[in-house]
Amino acid sequence: TFVVGDNCIKCKHTDCVEVCPVDCFYEGPNFLVIHPDECIDCALCEPECPVDAIFSEDELPAGQEVFLELNAELAEVWPNITEKKDAPADNEEWDGVENKLQYLER
Ligand code: SF4
Ligand code: F3S
Repeated sequence: TFVVGDNCIKCKHTDCVEVCPVDCFYEGPNFLVIHPDECIDCALCEPECPVDAIFSEDELPAGQEVFLELNAELAEVWPNITEKKDAPADNEEWDGVENKLQYLER
């Protein structure tokens, strides 16, 4: 499966949802997740993210292993998203900020 990682938090560009052939993205207040049981590993979403927040589960950066379980957990409770929407107004300030997990809203 592919996994949405730390840098999506508070950036949330949503370009990823437009290319997913199986519509397996789910939306929280300031983060998106991929449903691991629905993702078909097509890899189309990975290059679409402007802030490089999507990884194959085998290539998750060190320290982001927790996002594998987090995507699975939140995809069960958050609503599906299939259409791009505007990113948060302050998204540029948050690109590349480390350890954004503390800012995750549920
Ligand atoms: Fe969707 Fe493909 Fe990305 Fe999986 S890898 S979330 S199927 S676009
Ligand atoms: Fe997040 Fe990148 Fe998608 S910022 S919403 S993973 S395009």
